[in-house]
Amino acid sequence: MKSEDFLSARDLAPSELLALFEKASAMKRDRKQYFGSRTAMTMAMLFEKPSLRTRVTFDVGITQLGGAGIFLGPSDIDLGKRESVYDVAKNLERMVDIIMIRTFAHSVCTDMAEFAGIPVINGLTDREHPCQTLADYFTMWEIQGDLNGKKLAYVGDGNNMAHSLLLMGARLGVSVSIATPEGYEPDEEVVETAREDGEASGATMLVTNNATEAVAEADAVYTDVWASMGQEDEAEERKKRFLPYQVNESLISRAKPDAIFLHCLPAHRGEEVTDAVIDSEQSVVFQEAENRLHVQKALVHELTLDYS
Ligand code: CP
Ligand code: NVA
Repeated sequence: MKSEDFLSARDLAPSELLALFEKASAMKRDRKQYFGSRTAMTMAMLFEKPSLRTRVTFDVGITQLGGAGIFLGPSDIDLGKRESVYDVAKNLERMVDIIMIRTFAHSVCTDMAEFAGIPVINGLTDREHPCQTLADYFTMWEIQGDLNGKKLAYVGDGNNMAHSLLLMGARLGVSVSIATPEGYEPDEEVVETAREDGEASGATMLVTNNATEAVAEADAVYTDVWASMGQEDEAEERKKRFLPYQVNESLISRAKPDAIFLHCLPAHRGEEVTDAVIDSEQSVVFQEAENRLHVQKALVHELTLDYS
């Protein structure tokens, strides 16, 4: 891979994404094949927000590769307050082999990558969640085959998930339709970048306030929580604004009959998605969650060397 960091869903070229999917698939088929291939590798895992999937899948993945993950929660480092991002980076690059960071401002993640002379992986920022979209598109590829010409509809908040789905979809030739309430659209710069990338892959990017229009004939329907981590104060107001954007049986019936339902999780059942949809046969959310393990193992394996 060209880049030594993975900070954005746009960081990998289409051929690199597909090669990563093949590698993740091989790792999933035969988990033991890569066991111990990164003996004694260490990953610092910096979390400024809560996590279930990201923490567990990175930790398990590193362990299976033969290395160790070091969990550093918000109170361990107190990034930017107890110690600057620069100083943390300059310490960690001398101690560990790779850094994964989950934080608020995307600039903290890019600064960490700039200052640390070791690979840095974005484990979620307010702007992007690229490891999640690796798992999302890998899951679609696993189930539906060739992604070129497929359509993914995302209904809900124009947040970090919407951004990474747009950027990676454009790379992979997946047309992405985003439906949000007025005022909650994705960042215009991200949409423009995805549109430009889509010109090369043949994918089109649509942003609308009409959920039915977005979901029409989609191969995959995606949603996420209405209030992301850090937006807890807005949760009540958002519940009112977002209710018409709930993914329920009526809305998903507008997609193709064999469409899959995706959600990064955690889900707020009864809000952005009903039980009837998330527990339906169309829903592949737990396969998608498991796939975080396989794609991230493949990613870490690509970004690091054999130290044994
Ligand atoms: N989807 C995801 O990133 O889950 P966590 O927030 O639990 O890590
Ligand atoms: N948009 C959500 C994603 C959680 C995985 C958040 O940032 O909280």
